[in-house]
Amino acid sequence: MALSRREFVRRFGAGGAAVASAAHIIGYGREELLAFTGEAQGQRPTGPVAIRLSSNENMRGPSPKVLEILRSHPSKDLGLGYPPPNLAAFKEAIATFSGAKAENVIMSTGSGEILTAAVMAYCSPDRALVTADPSYSSPNGTARNIKAPVKLTPVDARLRLDLEALIRGAIGAGLVFLCNPNNPTSSVHTMADIESAVRTIKTRSPETGILIDEAYLEYATLPGSGTMAKLALELPGVFISRTFSKAYGLAGMRMGYAIGQPATMDKVGRAWGLGSLNELQAIAGITALKETVHMEWEKGENKRVRDWTQGQFKEMGYSSPDSQTNFIFVNIRKPAVQFRDACRAQGVAVGRDFPPMEKTYARISLGTMENMQQAMVVFKKVLGA
Ligand SMILES: Cc1ncc(COP(=O)(O)O)c(C=O)c1O
Repeated sequence: MALSRREFVRRFGAGGAAVASAAHIIGYGREELLAFTGEAQGQRPTGPVAIRLSSNENMRGPSPKVLEILRSHPSKDLGLGYPPPNLAAFKEAIATFSGAKAENVIMSTGSGEILTAAVMAYCSPDRALVTADPSYSSPNGTARNIKAPVKLTPVDARLRLDLEALIRGAIGAGLVFLCNPNNPTSSVHTMADIESAVRTIKTRSPETGILIDEAYLEYATLPGSGTMAKLALELPGVFISRTFSKAYGLAGMRMGYAIGQPATMDKVGRAWGLGSLNELQAIAGITALKETVHMEWEKGENKRVRDWTQGQFKEMGYSSPDSQTNFIFVNIRKPAVQFRDACRAQGVAVGRDFPPMEKTYARISLGTMENMQQAMVVFKKVLGA
């Protein structure tokens, strides 16, 4: 349901409506004022959401060519399923994209399943998970479910993964989870830094598995940042996970994968059900991987929105680490819940609490420029700026 201008004025005030109109006149993207009724875990719904900046999805959606192939794919192929006709080609496409072979790839219905499988494969009551704090919390949850110890390692003063501390914690551990770029702090390490940490861990603790989660890597612009696929192919027990849910704009299609040595992929793949990918996922994925020009546009657009949004908070006196993702982590100097509830009451949903930083930091996903211009009216009001 789109918001009418009258409804927008009621919620955001005339200033917000002016921004909205200006955005329409100069033609930013498509209409994004969708109302959602559901909400992400940990939030307290107080009414319909007009602008959703809570789950790091891509509000620009997938490339038009992906949508086109989904519309035009011969429907009779959907009747064939054991295996779906294009599934092997999808695996090949992922392998080629990653500089690997098909035997180095496992696919899953969303990369979240890979994370679960990784913990199941490498952790146990006497083999700990080592992870940053705060970081993406699903591995932590899985470890707790199987009663594996969790060594939480605080991020450093710049809110980056503390690689030295993670190395120290890794000795004898089951799995080290390196979220790079890190969710929620939005920071990234260079390939050289990650490689050095991974090699050190593997030298000191050869049995420890290492998962590098690259869910947001497409958005990293820091020189020297990049995928660790090559290192994963070289070292046993080291693997990367990637997803189509973020920069590819296909979160609702549920597609993810991991790259590593065949024995490592076998161990992870056997530890947990990774789901069964279907024909539409396969053709969407094959097309998305070919859409390199669109991906460059997507990265540029995200950076344009990110620079503007971070600039606005900076002007108001609120700092955030230099984001390398499609979200920002802002020191709002008050509890995230207060900010979140106040924004939510005005139709803008922002991220959940991220302990131990929930007393001062809020995570805000980046939508379209139009989304952010409209949400900024609310942020300014809520922060009294
Ligand atoms: C760091 C990170 N890894 C993995 C995932 C899982 O995403 P998906 O299962 O959609 O691939 C997310 C989702 O937000 C994430 O933030």
